[in-house]
Amino acid sequence: MKTSAEAPRALATILERTRQVGFTMPSEAGTGSLLRALAASKPQGRMLEIGTGTGIATAWLLDGMDEASELVSVDVDASMQQIAGDVLGHDPRVRFVTDDASSFLLHREHESFDLIFADAMAGKYELLDETLALLKRGGLYVVDDMLPQPNWPPGHAPRVAELIATLTRRPDLHATRLDWASGIVVAARRG
Ligand SMILES: C[S@@+](CC[C@H](N)C(=O)[O-])C[C@H]1O[C@@H](n2cnc3c(N)ncnc32)[C@H](O)[C@@H]1O
Repeated sequence: MKTSAEAPRALATILERTRQVGFTMPSEAGTGSLLRALAASKPQGRMLEIGTGTGIATAWLLDGMDEASELVSVDVDASMQQIAGDVLGHDPRVRFVTDDASSFLLHREHESFDLIFADAMAGKYELLDETLALLKRGGLYVVDDMLPQPNWPPGHAPRVAELIATLTRRPDLHATRLDWASGIVVAARRG
């Protein structure tokens, strides 16, 4: 049996292809291992990843999910998402959606999720209320890159501070800051 210290088997291939294409926004291993643990806490869960990239966090999430869980992963960039599809697409638990996340989020009226990893502007800095409305009671909302990053555009720091303040003050959430890896906030929807 694989131990929790080991990375998902698919990760090495994804990381190699990520390096080859020069994708500059990959999730860290610390974030991935946290996502795997959180996914494992949601048997028969419905998970949503906003921003597939090349599938790094997707691989970690799938590694934690049980056989009855499902993951939808959305990205507007078909070429990067294709890497995730090539390596992970055989897994019947994952569905890749190539779409603008804003459009995707605005057409989910009848859906809800046990875990949302919001890793694009939409779902995090845009359409936050709409995204949080998709969380089930007890559902988990996760964001990373909450500590200063070299690729932050000018003026981004105040948006991060505002997002953290919003998440930690919302009465419908219990949120906590984790100041390691790239900086993470986990928020649970209150019952
Ligand atoms: C931080 S990266 C995601 C990293 C990925 N989750 C991982 O684990 O490595 C952000 C992703 O959001 C995608 N993105 C940016 N704008 C988007 C939009 N409007 N709709 C959907 N995806 C978008 C980018 O193409 C990029 O792949």
